[in-house]
Amino acid sequence: MESNKELLNLTGKAAIVTGGAKGIGSAIAYRLAEAGASVLIADIDEEAASKCAQDLNINGWKAISLKVDVSIEGDIDNMINTTKDQFGSVDILVNNAGIYPSKLIKDMSLDDFEKVIHTNLRSVFLSIKKTAEIMKNQGGGKIINVTSIDAIHPSMAGLAHYDASKHGEWGLTKNAALEYAEDKIWINAIAPGGIATPGVAAMSQGASAEQMTEQTDAFLGKIPMHRIGDADEIAKVALFLASDMSSYMTGEQLVVDGGVLLR
Ligand SMILES: NC(=O)c1ccc[n+]([C@@H]2O[C@H](COP(=O)([O-])OP(=O)(O)OC[C@H]3O[C@@H](n4cnc5c(N)ncnc54)[C@H](O)[C@@H]3O)[C@@H](O)[C@H]2O)c1
Repeated sequence: MESNKELLNLTGKAAIVTGGAKGIGSAIAYRLAEAGASVLIADIDEEAASKCAQDLNINGWKAISLKVDVSIEGDIDNMINTTKDQFGSVDILVNNAGIYPSKLIKDMSLDDFEKVIHTNLRSVFLSIKKTAEIMKNQGGGKIINVTSIDAIHPSMAGLAHYDASKHGEWGLTKNAALEYAEDKIWINAIAPGGIATPGVAAMSQGASAEQMTEQTDAFLGKIPMHRIGDADEIAKVALFLASDMSSYMTGEQLVVDGGVLLR
């Protein structure tokens, strides 16, 4: 039987983390690199991605960055080819990049709707389809999709496009897991609740101090643990799903929300 240390060792594995420059993605890139994986940080924010890769390199870990807009098919091709060229394989794919702009349906244009669907859902279909071919030829791999508690239950009005994308991503996760199990490609999802990230902080930009206190109180009141989560609390679960710790799991969604969905 392997030791805990051996099970969590990702030495020799090549990983892609989309949206890996900030927030949850950056925390996941850190944990995977620390476990020994070579990590490609794929992000639309080129400067932040490069800084993130440098921070990992300073620790002596292997990481490179690439400017990728996951809503563009050619960028996804480039992301996968670069990983294969630079690291020799693609063993772990983390589909994390996502946007959550708030707008009611009555104010939402078709462009607004499609931007969220293309970034959060179409991108996941494309990257699974293209990566799975490589993983199949290698004899297997791990795919982790960062969904949301909104993949299960809406958290607030104004996120119809987001909830459609995340419910879709969860359905896609299950069906892809079914299709690729015989190829030894394990495909699971993590559904975060409220996590402190730059994206969440940007949501309250423009709000007064009073409004922010009101919003925070209302938000914390919904969390049984009475605190917002840290990005590393998602990254630790991603490490579990990327490692042999989760060797008999596929098509599962792990909710990491401080108990929000219990209410
Ligand atoms: N933070 C939360 O509370 C929370 C809750 C549930 C689900 N999530 C999900 O977690 C994921 C990450 O969220 P976060 O809060 O860390 O976001 P964030 O905005 O803090 O970071 C997202 C990263 O993705 C990058 N990105 C955005 N659009 C991109 C694109 N088209 N192509 C490539 N990169 C792109 C950004 O530059 C950024 O580095 C998202 O899928 C989100 O839906 C977050």
